[in-house]
Amino acid sequence: MKKFENKVCLVTGASSGIGKATALSFAQAGAKVVVSDVNETQGMQVVNEISDFGGNAIFVKCDISKKDEVENLVKTTVITFGRLDYAVNSAGIAGKLSLPIHEYPEDEWLNQIQVNLIGTYYCVKAQITQMLLQGGGNIVCVASAAGLRGQPQNSPYATSKHGVVGLVKTVAIEYATQNIRINAVCPTAIETPMIMQGRRKLAENPEALEAAKNYQAMKRMGQPQEVADVALWLCSDQSSFITGHAMAVDGGAFA
Ligand SMILES: NC(=O)c1ccc[n+]([C@@H]2O[C@H](COP(=O)([O-])OP(=O)(O)OC[C@H]3O[C@@H](n4cnc5c(N)ncnc54)[C@H](O)[C@@H]3O)[C@@H](O)[C@H]2O)c1
Repeated sequence: MKKFENKVCLVTGASSGIGKATALSFAQAGAKVVVSDVNETQGMQVVNEISDFGGNAIFVKCDISKKDEVENLVKTTVITFGRLDYAVNSAGIAGKLSLPIHEYPEDEWLNQIQVNLIGTYYCVKAQITQMLLQGGGNIVCVASAAGLRGQPQNSPYATSKHGVVGLVKTVAIEYATQNIRINAVCPTAIETPMIMQGRRKLAENPEALEAAKNYQAMKRMGQPQEVADVALWLCSDQSSFITGHAMAVDGGAFA
């Protein structure tokens, strides 16, 4: 029997990067997977990949910054698969700008908070509500190393991710005796479209790419699968005494 056979997993931001690797890994481990994202075309490709190896997945379009869409996402999960065992909240955005706070455009600043923090709050709230009804569950939020230390020129992102870590720690305590665990993963540089085409445009900037690699003691960037593996472990019974943790996935950067 596969590790997550008969379990139901919801992954936001599952059309790309860390979320995609997580959705594929859960499906390979036997879970029924709800692939969710704003990007429907890429999300359907993930569903097709899962179907190709005999897995079971559906796509549900959801913008996590919209409360009604998040509530619909959890509702659709339960209508389709009957319950929600695991949720990995990977959807997020990184700003395209590198600016100190007094120069940072306010609408851009607030938008990152709306998606990364308030969106994650909507997700966690809806997921916990369902998990309480069914008697338990397990949540992983993809925060960031920018949720563990400040990141100059990137205050909205770092603020949103510190908020996610605070949310995770607090919610972990609130439901610790109700068979619900929740943890955060805090990656440094992971090779995904967000970072390769994002603020520092690593794909076209060899100097910035080198600096991004050298930030880790391992002198390389991480791969999405290396974060997905941690998320699956945190959802598994192998981590049964761990909740409220903000785990750096950082190639030794914080060591
Ligand atoms: N790549 C890194 O180096 C890195 C490091 C630390 C943390 N993170 C975090 O990891 C998570 C995943 O990022 P990634 O690197 O895989 O990036 P990515 O851009 O490859 O994937 C992010 C996905 O989230 C989706 N998304 C964006 N806004 C959304 C919204 N409002 N509602 C629903 N879906 C939305 C995108 O369409 C995309 O498919 C993010 O929360 C990011 O902040 C990434």
